[in-house]
Amino acid sequence: GRVIFSGIQPTGVPHLGNYLGALSNWVRLQKTAAPEDELFFSIVGWHALTLPQDPDTLAASRKDLLATLLAIGLDPKRSILFHQDHNPVHTELAWILSCLTPIGKLRRMTTWKTRLAASRNANDESEVDESLLNAGLFTYPVLQAADILAYRATHVPVGEDQTQHLELCRDLADIFNRTSGRPIFPLPSQLNTISRRILSLRDPTSKMSKSSPDLQSRILLTDTAAQIKSKIRSAVTDSTPGITYDPLARPGTSNLLTILSACTDEDVHAVAGRYEGKGHGHLKADVAEAVEDLLKGPRTEFERIRHEKTFLEAVAKAGAERARERSEATMVCVRELLGLDS
Ligand code: TYM
Repeated sequence: GRVIFSGIQPTGVPHLGNYLGALSNWVRLQKTAAPEDELFFSIVGWHALTLPQDPDTLAASRKDLLATLLAIGLDPKRSILFHQDHNPVHTELAWILSCLTPIGKLRRMTTWKTRLAASRNANDESEVDESLLNAGLFTYPVLQAADILAYRATHVPVGEDQTQHLELCRDLADIFNRTSGRPIFPLPSQLNTISRRILSLRDPTSKMSKSSPDLQSRILLTDTAAQIKSKIRSAVTDSTPGITYDPLARPGTSNLLTILSACTDEDVHAVAGRYEGKGHGHLKADVAEAVEDLLKGPRTEFERIRHEKTFLEAVAKAGAERARERSEATMVCVRELLGLDS
């Protein structure tokens, strides 16, 4: 059977990009998985620490994210839902892998290069100030590899922004297998059943993101119908008459078509065809309605589950126990191969 693993950072309520790009695939996988497939979905609190976090906000986000995973239809009896920070094996394996990771590979990570570019010396553009960046941001992909390899996962459903991290994970699995002389780690493949990159509603040249300061740029899973309507209405498009799907020339318009087709589970070109002679107002009204239809159920469920404190705690505890047990089997092998078992 397959071992499916994925993770999401607890940095606030997930947005429509997380949902359409990742979380809805998790639910779909849970529905279509064979009985012998194992599914792991983790809330990765340690990854969130690479950026400054307010402790109370982080604590609330971790709980709310678990409630969200349940609200969208993940079943804790079928899938192992757990907090990464409840299983110390992730950090143990991350350390071991970091000792096998060439620094040059980490320097080539796009996310690192973006951070580096953002911290260029204000006085001298050519000088990069690494002293402002923490080591966790740099080794972030190694921890992500450990998350995956601890369960010897074979498939990882993530959006395309994670492709490079997954390539590194495969590299590290391969290095470990070759240096230890035993192929204990499968090389996991990316599973983007439906790869959709949802863009910012305010700046359709960048992805919809949790970290953008502009709240109008993203739709949250908890947004009301009125909030959804207002955010879609103010979405940046273009002044070309009519509607066509052209992601390069018309990123804003195409993003709305992507969202609509994802909500209604249709081909984006078929959707675009229906709006050819229509205006942006018409398209936006329909997108807002489709998004509301999609999010209404999960939102209601979330508001109910988030207050069930005892239930949520029980789910987190049971998930952590199963995760620890499964990863311990991997670590027994890993420690033995390294001479760390006695
Ligand atoms: P994170 O928390 O940033 O995002 C969670 C998932 O959402 C996808 N995603 C998007 N998809 C489409 N359009 C968007 N605008 C968009 N924004 C985010 C991401 O591709 C991801 O699948 N490093 C990971 C978390 C992680 C992980 C792991 C994932 C840690 N360990 C192990 C898989 C396996 C991250 O920051 O995701």
